Amino acid sequence: MSISSMDKIMALAKRRGFIYQASEIYGGLNGFWDYGPLGAQLKKNLREAWWQDVVLFPCGGAPGPSGEPVRIVPLDTSIIQHPRVWEASGHLGGFSDPMVDCRETKARYRSDHLMVYAPASGDRGGKPLFCFLPDSPSEQKQKKKAEKAFGEVITIPLGSVPREEFASVLGPDAEKVGSLTEPRAFNLMFKTYIGATATEDDVAYLRPETAQGIFVQFKNVLDTTRVKVPFGIAQTGKAFRNEVTPRNFTFRSREFELMEIEFFCHASEAAEWYRFWRDTRMAWWKSLGLAGENLQLREHDKDELAHYAKDGAGTSDIEYRFPFTAPGFGELEGIAHRAAFDLTQHQKFARTNLEYFDAERGELLPNGSRKGEKYLPHVIEPAAGLDRGVLAILCEAFTEDASRPSPELMKIHPRLAPIKAAVFPLVNKDGMPELSEKLYTELRARFYRSGLIEHDVKQAIGKRYARMDEAGCPYCFTVDGETRESQSVTVRDRDTGAQERLALDRVGDWLAEKLGAP
Ligand code: GAP
Repeated sequence: MSISSMDKIMALAKRRGFIYQASEIYGGLNGFWDYGPLGAQLKKNLREAWWQDVVLFPCGGAPGPSGEPVRIVPLDTSIIQHPRVWEASGHLGGFSDPMVDCRETKARYRSDHLMVYAPASGDRGGKPLFCFLPDSPSEQKQKKKAEKAFGEVITIPLGSVPREEFASVLGPDAEKVGSLTEPRAFNLMFKTYIGATATEDDVAYLRPETAQGIFVQFKNVLDTTRVKVPFGIAQTGKAFRNEVTPRNFTFRSREFELMEIEFFCHASEAAEWYRFWRDTRMAWWKSLGLAGENLQLREHDKDELAHYAKDGAGTSDIEYRFPFTAPGFGELEGIAHRAAFDLTQHQKFARTNLEYFDAERGELLPNGSRKGEKYLPHVIEPAAGLDRGVLAILCEAFTEDASRPSPELMKIHPRLAPIKAAVFPLVNKDGMPELSEKLYTELRARFYRSGLIEHDVKQAIGKRYARMDEAGCPYCFTVDGETRESQSVTVRDRDTGAQERLALDRVGDWLAEKLGAP
């Protein structure tokens, strides 16, 4: 896929009411998006699929590494927390992107995104270093200049160029050398004020992740439920990051939704729970149709790991090849072994003991019981982006086929499709609309928990099929001239366009089977 296919996906998303620009009639707001009628239902379906498979029936009942069922409880914490939470978590001090500005072009870049062409020999001979943004036109342009200046070149991150040499760097789109500023920290948290006085003492922050709400309530969950380590706490909800360069449609937004699990286990079991969650989460995305070569699992190299994760079981990203990242990939979900970092920090900052007493560990006593062990559990964190998930589903579903009545169709997995089925009369006369209305009413009453059922009587039948193909509706039932006599309808499959006849009294069960619904 190329950039132009992304333009087509964005146009379809707007045209069919999946995603709109926020505050569009006021000119839009950079980094904010609204979900239209189809998008709101698609997003809800993805969130609910996660909730069902994580909270209500974790891993489809499959056992975890211990051989026992996986235990997860839900939580719903506030967007605004005590400001000390963000001090403890490190977000206040460290949650910042080092940014580099170009004084000449006024462009702003994330310092860790920029690379530099340098001479392979190591000797610049007074010539500049050529800085570029990978996968942008500057990459080829700067390479040509660098090869002309040095012959053989190598690429190094801008971050490894000593500060005193910045004056010799030619910015990605600059004409003059030395236009790049040194990297400057830019805090990503949105600030707000609690109460009417709005003084600096009232400062609070919109959460940049849902995870910290979970850590802060760890003790309450333990004390008020019967959960025992190993277990997880799951939460979905909005997060806010004042991204410097929001871009690529909803991929990098300033307001987005997370689906996070914090899974607590004993340090000695962290490695196997890490592998378990990494593989389980990868299988989950595959089950929703991201099954091909556009999905990959990438283990982080040691030097990419957060400081507290250096000696841990690892961190991996589930990545999707979005049209705008191709041939590369973009992160969809991260699975990280966070060790006991967060609980240790909150224990220290809140001066509260967050240790867990594990009665099933420790020395074996003469009476056959265990002495018990107190510890801060380790955490495996699978953290997925709901909006990025929706975007990946839209990108994967987008299909072009000039031979169809709908040259663009959305092959959305039936479990996620916002419209589950549509019912049409072939023509709007001869008793057909009455029969189709009756079937529609029956299906709607049975399937409204799964998603939308539509009834459409307008336009030629081909146009109605095309509309449903674009909306990602997997099945269309049509009442035709034969229906009254044979008590049957046709059902059309979105992906193949093939039609078959079905007895009217079988339609409900047929659809239930296809949707995996009751
Ligand atoms: N508690 C861990 C955490 O928040 P993260 O990797 O920063 O981890 C998790 O975020 C997921 O959230 C990412 O894998 C991505 O899918 C999504 N995400 C992160 N920043 C985003 C943004 N600015 N816009 C949309 N989604 C974002």
